[in-house]
Amino acid sequence: MLAQEIIRTKRDGGQLSEAAIRAFVQGLCDGSWSEGQVAALAMAILLRGMEPAETVALTRAMAASGERLDWDGLPGPVVDKHSTGGIGDKVSLILAPLLAACGCFVPMLSGRGLGHTGGTLDKLDSIEGYRTSVPPEQFRHAVRAAGCAIVGQTEDLAPADRRLYAIRDVTATVESVPLITASILSKKLAAGPHGLVMDVKYGSGAFLPDQADARALALSLVEVATGAGLPCRALLTDMSMCLGTAAGNAVEVREAIDVLTGQVATGRLLDLTLGLAAELLDLAGIDDGRQRAETMLSNGQAAERFARMVTLLGGPPDLLERPDLRLPSAPVQRPAFSACEGFVAGIDARGLGIAIIELGGGRRRPQDRVDHAVGLTGVLEVGSPVGRNTPLAMIHARDDEGATAAEAALRQAFRIERGRPSPRPLIAERLGARTKFS
Ligand code: URA
Repeated sequence: MLAQEIIRTKRDGGQLSEAAIRAFVQGLCDGSWSEGQVAALAMAILLRGMEPAETVALTRAMAASGERLDWDGLPGPVVDKHSTGGIGDKVSLILAPLLAACGCFVPMLSGRGLGHTGGTLDKLDSIEGYRTSVPPEQFRHAVRAAGCAIVGQTEDLAPADRRLYAIRDVTATVESVPLITASILSKKLAAGPHGLVMDVKYGSGAFLPDQADARALALSLVEVATGAGLPCRALLTDMSMCLGTAAGNAVEVREAIDVLTGQVATGRLLDLTLGLAAELLDLAGIDDGRQRAETMLSNGQAAERFARMVTLLGGPPDLLERPDLRLPSAPVQRPAFSACEGFVAGIDARGLGIAIIELGGGRRRPQDRVDHAVGLTGVLEVGSPVGRNTPLAMIHARDDEGATAAEAALRQAFRIERGRPSPRPLIAERLGARTKFS
């Protein structure tokens, strides 16, 4: 099948056959489609869209382009969660061991920071000795023995997506719902879970700030995953403020430990983690999921699973007992105060993410090194009262210059008004059939 004929069909608004889609994915992998041809088809898809059946075929073909993990023989449901990313989103660090304590197995392949949002792997890299890149056998052993393991994606998983994403990134073709759907789900399908929950965020810190756009993506993810044979539900969640009170890398691991060990027992971070756990446990056919998850947090079993995972992946056995010794801390720590009094009426959460990148906690270019110690703690929420002596957040910086720049960025990011606003609900909508996979 000629590449130019496939491109022409989509350019003119036609529907691509499964064979045409397979030829495209083959061309992506063996290099027989040039960068120009891949970009032309990506642009045609962005402008003309795809029917769900086409997106299912693209997702399946990309998932089959490399290695596929298989978890047969594990004595429990194999589940996974994916978030479209946000500021302070450390849910995976708590959710994976929590689900493991509830009887599930969670082989989680995570990513690094993307744009203004942080990445789970960068957070885990702040733990002394923890290895996010391990041989497949060590990953399998950790999943079996701890019930969960969070590591980076291997080169062999959905390689077609790696080439397509790199080309989309430089040809203004990232913002296409079918292409985003196929990109996310091909990697998830290849990782082999039996069920998936998607946390699709909207709001000022989200990849898709507009609620209607995020909802369209959530619906597409649920429909295509289900069509490709992966039972899936989605939560549409608010990302108009930092999730929890810390944003950065080591500071987020510390907050996750505080939730796992019961030192933080309220708040949006815990609520969202329990909401996602309840959804996945229900999907897996486990009754009273939320209650069970709450019990596993309060009886310390989720924390124990986290400690086991960290040790099996090379981290220190006493991380939970001595987090201050095992996580790096920044030399400069100072509060950022507001210029006026009132209530937090709105937050430019993307601005918080950019401030963390400026501190060195994220990347400007893919090859940049991340400073794991820097970030923000005690970040106020929408609706919090603000006085002259109330810090908007505590800044953790490498030097005074960085702290001063972050302070200015924080003052810009927080909108303070006289009246108390009501924050948006954390979970706006639940999407996906209520059926269970086991
Ligand atoms: N994340 C992905 O993995 N792929 C996309 O296309 C967008 C976000």
